[in-house]
Amino acid sequence: MTAKKTPSSKTTAKQAKPATAGGPSHLPVEMLSKAAAKVELKRLAAEIGRHDALYYQNDAPEIADAEYDALRRRNEALEARFPDLKLAESPADRVGAAPVAAFGKVTHRVPMLSLGNAFSDEDVTDFVARVRRFLGLGADDDLAFTAEPKIDGLSIALRYENGWFIEAATRGDGAEGENVTRNVATIKSIPHQLKGNDVPPVMEVRGEIYYRHADFAKLNETQAAAGAKVFANPRNAAAGSLRQLDASITASRPLQFFAYTWGEVSKLPADTQAGIVAAFSRWGLPVNPLMETVTSAEAMIAYYHGIGEKRSNLGYDIDGVVYKVNRLDLQDRLGFVSRSPRWATAHKFAAEQATTVLRGIEIQVGRTGSLTPVARLEPVNVGGVVVTNATLHNEDEIRRKDLRIGDFVIVQRAGDVIPQVVGPVLDKRPKQATAYEFPKLCPICGSHAVREADSDEVSGGVVRRCTGGLICPAQAKERLKHFVSRLAFDIEGLGEEKIEQFYADKRIQTPADIFTLQARNGVDFPRLEEQKGYGRKSIEKLFAAIDARRTIGLQRFLFALGIRHVGEGTSKDLAKHYLTWDAFHAAVMAAVSAGTKDSDAYRDIDDIDGIGETVVDALVEFFKEPHNTEIVRELLSHVSVTAFERVATTSSPVTGKTVVFTGTLEKFSRNEAKATAERLGAKVSGSVSGKTDYLVAGADAGSKLTKARDAGVTVLTEDEWLALIGQR
Ligand code: IVH
Repeated sequence: MTAKKTPSSKTTAKQAKPATAGGPSHLPVEMLSKAAAKVELKRLAAEIGRHDALYYQNDAPEIADAEYDALRRRNEALEARFPDLKLAESPADRVGAAPVAAFGKVTHRVPMLSLGNAFSDEDVTDFVARVRRFLGLGADDDLAFTAEPKIDGLSIALRYENGWFIEAATRGDGAEGENVTRNVATIKSIPHQLKGNDVPPVMEVRGEIYYRHADFAKLNETQAAAGAKVFANPRNAAAGSLRQLDASITASRPLQFFAYTWGEVSKLPADTQAGIVAAFSRWGLPVNPLMETVTSAEAMIAYYHGIGEKRSNLGYDIDGVVYKVNRLDLQDRLGFVSRSPRWATAHKFAAEQATTVLRGIEIQVGRTGSLTPVARLEPVNVGGVVVTNATLHNEDEIRRKDLRIGDFVIVQRAGDVIPQVVGPVLDKRPKQATAYEFPKLCPICGSHAVREADSDEVSGGVVRRCTGGLICPAQAKERLKHFVSRLAFDIEGLGEEKIEQFYADKRIQTPADIFTLQARNGVDFPRLEEQKGYGRKSIEKLFAAIDARRTIGLQRFLFALGIRHVGEGTSKDLAKHYLTWDAFHAAVMAAVSAGTKDSDAYRDIDDIDGIGETVVDALVEFFKEPHNTEIVRELLSHVSVTAFERVATTSSPVTGKTVVFTGTLEKFSRNEAKATAERLGAKVSGSVSGKTDYLVAGADAGSKLTKARDAGVTVLTEDEWLALIGQR
């Protein structure tokens, strides 16, 4: 996958702004002194960072593409002349550039440590007594602590220099983390510049990145609709969203942040924990509103129980509370034991578990035919929520946990989300408990269900999948729900519930039926208006909403087909590339009839930016199946698909040409080359074929060069390419 967005590929800058103090200086790079270059590189890093933020976070670029590109080119030229001045966080390696192959490493200047734990009220009393003893405090001496929720997310270190965000690193092993600057730069609640005049020149803010429950639910809904990986809990969703090599994916995920501690700082803004958090807040960083200052073990315990009661209404996961000695001079004196501070502890919540009986296991069949086992439980209260079902993931999990119907099982609400079955209580196992045989046939349509490695699961998951395709009512119904979903046809008044009803009474069996619903109303079926629960007005509205969708954009149409691995992003990539349904369909049918992966037709699709073999295979699979082509054909007799509207590119000598870059490029990075070519209207391909117009060859070009020469493709050096596009 590659980034689809770079600031330079967006052509909608609101207005061009005159060059500012942060813009390129007018002295040619060759004439700059080293000292001047150093100053300018710093300024450029901040300026480019600011424009990246305006672009990525606010969708409000202030300068035109050309000016943005000029800033980057100036930065690169300066770095090329003074390589030893290149900043650790040079914009050349940062936001806006295409994705990196892997995250770089960051050594934490102050190690990122963990916290000791308290599990009971008594542990808290002991903690306070230990601190007092260590400091030699008498019974009457005051000692204040901050108390705050322990956020169940990912810890992150954000480095600000002169108020500007310049680097973000994960915790890693505490000594060294991963450089996730590009990704963090896309998080809206993390300011790119701290406000106020008391921000220290070096300020490393630390805190937690997390996902809100509501956003998590939405994310999983979208993921499921796209047939993509569904996250087990908000923490995993946060981790998965942050650690994306393609930062534009992170940008599309609403990650949140709370600042609660710090690393390297040139001068602290206060002398208490609470004072520093207050400064964070003044500077524009989000801080947790529930932090309090407390002065006794009793107050800490009361705080803990109070937060426990609020826990399920917070809207995000917490796994306990954290107490910290408030005065920083006392924190310094207390210091650390091994890898945890002596001045803080985490008071953890007990996992919310309960025991109940496993009444049965039911199989749900998803849109792509996956068979998911669901535990039916004797209703049980788990931490205030009545649980009747729990996920069992897949057949291997049932076997691994040795779950039998009739077993007493421990149920847990993991991170307040989907309940899980932890395992059976073996010494309570009833004699009549029976092992569960996972079906080999689809319980809905009776087709064979085959075991497959689940490519969406990182952990080498397996899934059993119904092979019935659209013959399977479960799959057909789930596909219809997908068809009308928000990112697909988005038909107002035709949601999941209506689909269930219309499917059950046979009014709608295929997508095309939606578009003949009105014509068949009162003809093949009793008039809907006369059915209970339907009003004449709402029926009219529904028909109008359906009519409004008789014309639909290519991207939505492709997404609506519900082809495996063709989610929202992939639909867009395909639409952007082919522009029209006819072009797309011809290309895919060519790959279907070619039948092999090394055919040009197959590779032409594979070469599209953002598209890989998994997608091409899925497209071929889908269009090979006569059921599917029939459904699409029928649908197209009711719906017209409009062309994808590409943002207009100016015409250039390479507009419409296909270019391949190969070898070691010295004048520009491959990503830059690609972005530039695409901006000029060229198609960039990964392999040489009969359609290639130009091969741009850097040093040590290998087989592609030979192939291009053999095929009579025009071969250009980097300079010749630059001359062709008018950049030299
Ligand atoms: S303070 C020296 N405060 O808990 C350690 N940590 O077990 C300073 N965490 O890695 C950490 N909420 O990711 C602190 N309010 C909070 C926290 C918090 C969550 C996490 C953090 C840390 C882990 C320690």
